[in-house]
Amino acid sequence: MMHSSSTVDILDLFECNKVVKICAPMVRYSKLQFRNLVKIYGCDLTFTPMILADSFCQSEKARQNEFTTNLMDTPVIVQFAANTVHDFVGAAHLVSPYCNGVDLNCGCPQRWARDLGIGCEMLKDPQKVYDIVRQCRNQIGKPLTVSVKMRLLGETKTTVEIARQLENCGVSFITVHARIPSQSVGDINKTDLANIKDSVSVPVVGNGGVTSFEEALQLQVETGCDGVMVANGILNNPALFSNTTVTFKECIQDWVNICYNSTIPASKYNKIADSPIRSIDERPYNLTFQCFHHHLVFMLEKVLTRRQRQVFNNLKRFEEVEHFLETYFDVKPQLYEFEKFSRYACIETDYKDKDDIYKLLRPVDLIDKNEWSFYDCDNNDGKYFNYKQKELQNDECDWANIFLENG
Ligand SMILES: Cc1cc2nc3c(=O)[nH]c(=O)nc-3n(C[C@H](O)[C@H](O)[C@H](O)COP(=O)(O)O)c2cc1C
Repeated sequence: MMHSSSTVDILDLFECNKVVKICAPMVRYSKLQFRNLVKIYGCDLTFTPMILADSFCQSEKARQNEFTTNLMDTPVIVQFAANTVHDFVGAAHLVSPYCNGVDLNCGCPQRWARDLGIGCEMLKDPQKVYDIVRQCRNQIGKPLTVSVKMRLLGETKTTVEIARQLENCGVSFITVHARIPSQSVGDINKTDLANIKDSVSVPVVGNGGVTSFEEALQLQVETGCDGVMVANGILNNPALFSNTTVTFKECIQDWVNICYNSTIPASKYNKIADSPIRSIDERPYNLTFQCFHHHLVFMLEKVLTRRQRQVFNNLKRFEEVEHFLETYFDVKPQLYEFEKFSRYACIETDYKDKDDIYKLLRPVDLIDKNEWSFYDCDNNDGKYFNYKQKELQNDECDWANIFLENG
């Protein structure tokens, strides 16, 4: 199946919109099905979770695990963590037929990432970042964008200088999570964000602390930024950019439908469609229970009562979640009509013989060495979910049946 991503020019989005509405890269969470969901509700542009570029270049299994896509998944930017030109450019070249841009992660502050010399550690050696961006821009044809997501450094002058140099190297746009690496929550530094915006002519995307559409518009007005990126806020409310405040029934229904339909193998569609009840009785394969359930936990945080949350958040199987959703919300998986199904079905990604650039750029002493970083985020619940669980358990606020009242 042909993929049409490459025809969309992300820079046109910045030209045509006062503020581009963007779903942030989120390890574990900004996967295909969530990207599809937020697009329905006003999001202009989505990012994949951060993918380790070296494993993407070297392992077919990593490629199949880390990146899936479909015809609705556009425009999409694939974010890589890398600290060498050959890894980033090699990965960018491999994925280029299936996306609209690639992004270099220069913001991840986690210990394991810093130990690998990736994420925000990269900003300690900005020359390396410039080199990666310059070479990627030279190797990857437009309209694919080459962008960087960074944090603030302690000194405004240094951050502004990095942004300027990135522009000189041909970066398409810059996303600034306007906090320093040691700061994970709290107020963002809007002054620094505005300074960066004023210092470069490429689009600047602001990120940090936005939890509503109103706040997104306000950040644009206060800093002049060209786009607003949201992470935590859009997990809680995937329809945030369509100016709603809590998750509503249609959004839950869409999430369930996307998860089930996008994972039905094309070969099985007719069998299900022809059966008298047209029921999707198989669990979504190729989608972990964690992914399906965690998103619902976040989406329903302000919708369920405390007691309902305690039950829901501890469910362990697809059947249990289905039963809960049907009981409380009258939501159950619905099979799409064929034409719609075809747009949501995963497309086959073929990377065979596309690693020529990677092989060309890889230093001679690394040839035949298979040493890539391994990061499997799906083998446990993860820090973020566990932290949220604790936060919710301590939460006394009872939003009794807001959903049902608004439903
Ligand atoms: C669960 C989770 C996963 C994240 N994963 C990534 C990632 O893969 N790449 C990245 O650049 N930032 C990642 N971030 C950071 C966000 O993209 C964003 O910069 C940060 O959360 C601030 O935005 P917010 O205040 O809207 O949440 C992640 C954040 C969260 C909450």
